[in-house]
Amino acid sequence: MSDQARTNTRPQARRTYPPGYGIVEPVANYRPWDVDDVFQEVYRLVRDATMVDIYRLWTLWFIASQVPAGDVLEVGSWRGGSGVVIARALERPRGGITSAGRETAGRETAGRDVFLADTFAGVVKASTRDTYYKGGEHANTSVELVRGLLERAGVPHVRLLPGVFPDDRGHEIEERSFALCHIDVDVYQSARETFEWVWPRMVSGGVVVFDDFGFYGCEGVTGLIGEIAGRPDGSGGRLTVIPSLSGQAMITHPGY
Ligand SMILES: C[S@@+](CC[C@H](N)C(=O)[O-])C[C@H]1O[C@@H](n2cnc3c(N)ncnc32)[C@H](O)[C@@H]1O
Repeated sequence: MSDQARTNTRPQARRTYPPGYGIVEPVANYRPWDVDDVFQEVYRLVRDATMVDIYRLWTLWFIASQVPAGDVLEVGSWRGGSGVVIARALERPRGGITSAGRETAGRETAGRDVFLADTFAGVVKASTRDTYYKGGEHANTSVELVRGLLERAGVPHVRLLPGVFPDDRGHEIEERSFALCHIDVDVYQSARETFEWVWPRMVSGGVVVFDDFGFYGCEGVTGLIGEIAGRPDGSGGRLTVIPSLSGQAMITHPGY
């Protein structure tokens, strides 16, 4: 998403938006992230290594704590923050959302790999479908920087895939089945190619989470999700996209 929208703090309310855009102010007041001690610990670890705000991170945390068996892929990891949140959530009790009495033995993570893909050279495949991005944005990261975060986070089941996805590295994991895919690549073509690559490899009940759906400057991804919504799902049904006021959009694989 565009830099001005990519902060962990509240966006500037005074800027001027075109029709259809503006600050979203939901009226809900349930804030489980405030009382989830484990999430807060992970958030403190990653907050300087992510452009994703606490609402979207907690949404990823909650979804990752529920997904079925299978590997996990994030395309667009930048400094690794959202990837670490996902990796740590996979260890949690299924659906565990508060610290109060819900933390039990933790889930089985053995056999589940988490792949974090990034060019580590910034955004690629910007096109006329995108309004803000030209290519090369967010190059201020490195493999070494992410490796350092992974070590501090204690997530040995995470592997990095440096390069353009899926072009450069997709073949290495093409036999895998995925329970969760987080697509955070900012532009239409990269988001589309990642989705088309991963969808037939999703397990039944697996979830694709798009970032960038609800952000000014990411109209390419918003448009892609409009194209995907309601199209045939490859299993005889139709895709149901669930939009979130956090700015994300989710699709659960219905099974085969
Ligand atoms: C907004 S950043 C991701 C933010 C990250 N999820 C976080 O926690 O802050 C978008 C990233 O997508 C990467 N990217 C875009 N298209 C890509 C592609 N096709 N393959 C690999 N990385 C890509 C860029 O290099 C950039 O680092």
